[in-house]
Amino acid sequence: MPRIANPSGSRSFGIAPLQITPKGLARTPDGGEIREGFLPKQMKARTLTEDHAFVLYGGARGPGKSFWLRWTLLWWLLKWFWQEGHRNVRVALFCETYVSLKDRQISKISAEFPRWLGEVKSTKADGLGFYIKEQFGGGAILLRNLDDPSKYQSAEFAGIAIDELTKNTFETFEILRGSLRWPGIHHRPFLAATNPGGIGHLWAKALFVDGSFTGFPQLLQRKDDFAFVKALPEDNPYLDAAYWDELNSLSEGLRRAWVNGDWDIFAGQVFTEWNPLEHICDPFKIPKHWIRRRCVDGGYAAPWCTLWLAEEPETGRIYVYREIYGSEVTDRRQAALVKKYSKGEAFKVSFGDPAMWAKKNVQGVVTSSADEYSRGGVALVPGDNNRINGKMKVHRALANLPDGKPGLIVFRTCANLIRTLPALPYDPIRVEDVDSKAEDHAYDALRYGFSEYVTKVAATAKDIAAQRRWERQQERLAQAFG
Ligand SMILES: Nc1ncnc2c1ncn2[C@@H]1O[C@H](COP(=O)(O)OP(=O)(O)OP(=O)(O)O)[C@@H](O)[C@H]1O
Ligand SMILES: [Mg+2]
Repeated sequence: MPRIANPSGSRSFGIAPLQITPKGLARTPDGGEIREGFLPKQMKARTLTEDHAFVLYGGARGPGKSFWLRWTLLWWLLKWFWQEGHRNVRVALFCETYVSLKDRQISKISAEFPRWLGEVKSTKADGLGFYIKEQFGGGAILLRNLDDPSKYQSAEFAGIAIDELTKNTFETFEILRGSLRWPGIHHRPFLAATNPGGIGHLWAKALFVDGSFTGFPQLLQRKDDFAFVKALPEDNPYLDAAYWDELNSLSEGLRRAWVNGDWDIFAGQVFTEWNPLEHICDPFKIPKHWIRRRCVDGGYAAPWCTLWLAEEPETGRIYVYREIYGSEVTDRRQAALVKKYSKGEAFKVSFGDPAMWAKKNVQGVVTSSADEYSRGGVALVPGDNNRINGKMKVHRALANLPDGKPGLIVFRTCANLIRTLPALPYDPIRVEDVDSKAEDHAYDALRYGFSEYVTKVAATAKDIAAQRRWERQQERLAQAFG
């Protein structure tokens, strides 16, 4: 049982999986001992940070990964002080946005870390953090978000922890590990916690889970510095049965990822950022002033799909609030159904697959699907069929808006969009595109629905550059693994 003795000899700082309070910490009668109350798997992961530079605790939801991050950072700060005499050391704890940082870490740190040890506050010199009192070394866990990782390029930290690693690109990982430096401290740990899935799924899986460095020659010589601890539900006895019932009721793929900690399920999937807990909502009445659009991917033998989109003007968030999905329905009947379901609603615009304007001969009459829709009272305009732009817009829409909620949310009733979007794989030849042989009808309709969003969604040059970098990274990875 490792213990760290205070050089003064008057107190000791115990690090052990000891009796734990519900908050995960306890104080001895002499007031000098903190117990982080690690569960055995958390303890194993923490121990690995002592002889590995990069440690990922990842897999299932809920085993206590975020808990492990903050307590391990605290453990390191106190160890550096008590064992080596380092004062005022800075480590950083990152989440992808401020909102996630607040929910997953700041609120928990305030509740769990003992007041006599330090406090969460903001200082002029270092900003927001948990600041340990001088008598315990004056170290700090700086609390940061990754809205713009480039701002950490010249920062210095003795240790770094990232919560939900796979929500970040490989470039972010590179920038942050470049900031791991601190005078006199030679072992500077990088800790990460995550569930599978997200834009960083592939690179994180390659480096930590598979130990495959093919696409990362710069890291090959550091292969042995990477360690992975597979997070499993049974790691955390604090989770109640209702929680697991909820997870077990998820679709097969996500259940495997979130309950079994299975990393293979997302391999090759395009929209790995899809998270049913965030991107699906219960239906509600759309307020009158919201902007409505419709979008149609036509088809007869292959399914056709119409989606109804509503934009909340205050945030720009899009809700997909209705879908029709079916096959072997004539254009005329499709139009009648779309009209029927749209009763009493006004639409800014209705987009159709440009292929719906192709002329065809129906029983001696030259017409097109768009003509038939028009005759049926549904006037369509051709949607933007630039596939890569469309995919980029869907990625951007799935990301969070400044309020911490995604820019695209789907009503639970749109079962086919919910079923097919997260399952779409990459095209094996045009590696940056969605495989058009997959069941992509609802996705295609969705892309058309974003046709107008060139200015609103595709926003800043910085975003586009980040997206390009991400696309290139996906391409490299697809080549490396293909
Ligand atoms: N060692 C521990 N002692 C006491 N409570 C713990 C411990 N580890 C985790 N918990 C509690 O269990 C719950 C889940 O922990 P946490 O949020 O860290 O899990 P997670 O693996 O990060 O979950 P997710 O996959 O949803 O991000 C939290 O309420 C946390 O406070
Ligand atoms: Mg967590």
